[in-house]
Amino acid sequence: MKRVAILISGGGSNMVALAQSMRGDHPARVILVASNDPGAAGLARAATLGLPSVAVDHRPFGRDREGFEAAILAPILAARPDIICLAGFMRVLTPAFVARFQGRMLNIHPSLLPKYPGLHTHRRALEAGDAEAGCTVHEVTQILDDGPIFGQARVAIRPDDTPATLAARVLHEEHRLYPAVLRRFASGDRTPLMLT
Ligand code: GAR
Repeated sequence: MKRVAILISGGGSNMVALAQSMRGDHPARVILVASNDPGAAGLARAATLGLPSVAVDHRPFGRDREGFEAAILAPILAARPDIICLAGFMRVLTPAFVARFQGRMLNIHPSLLPKYPGLHTHRRALEAGDAEAGCTVHEVTQILDDGPIFGQARVAIRPDDTPATLAARVLHEEHRLYPAVLRRFASGDRTPLMLT
């Protein structure tokens, strides 16, 4: 059984979708939910699901990324994860942190990478006049929102879409895509899963 740590910063809806998928014959289980924000709504949701969680506030560390990462790394390592899932985790990780989990850290990003790495993905897709948007699960490498793609799901953009309406439809697809990709990844299958 693979041990999965999920890192969150906010609402944690992807964390919930992942956690609820890891049941029965699924080859993985959640062993820790970790957040850089003690106020993250996802921590309460983790508690409701009976999942162990830890929060390390990044703010007192200021620009000391290494200090923050050392503090959050200790409980993560203590939980002995095989796989790390970033699920709405909004801190950029240092190369040293990424290297430690090389080949076993996944992220979900709300765009069809390689389009729109970084922030404000939905607004950028609308401003570009794109016909479709979506989300990507990829391996985390030292380049932000880059790395081998393990899956994508697409949604059609509607003429009346706003960043908020588009985000909601994409988030719905994230909840389908991330659990499906994790299940494959945990069983050793890294071939991309393209959902329509
Ligand atoms: C999701 O849309 C996720 O793709 C995005 O944050 C949201 C988190 O929602 N992640 C990023 O933008 C990463 N750069 P959640 O907390 O409800 O899962």
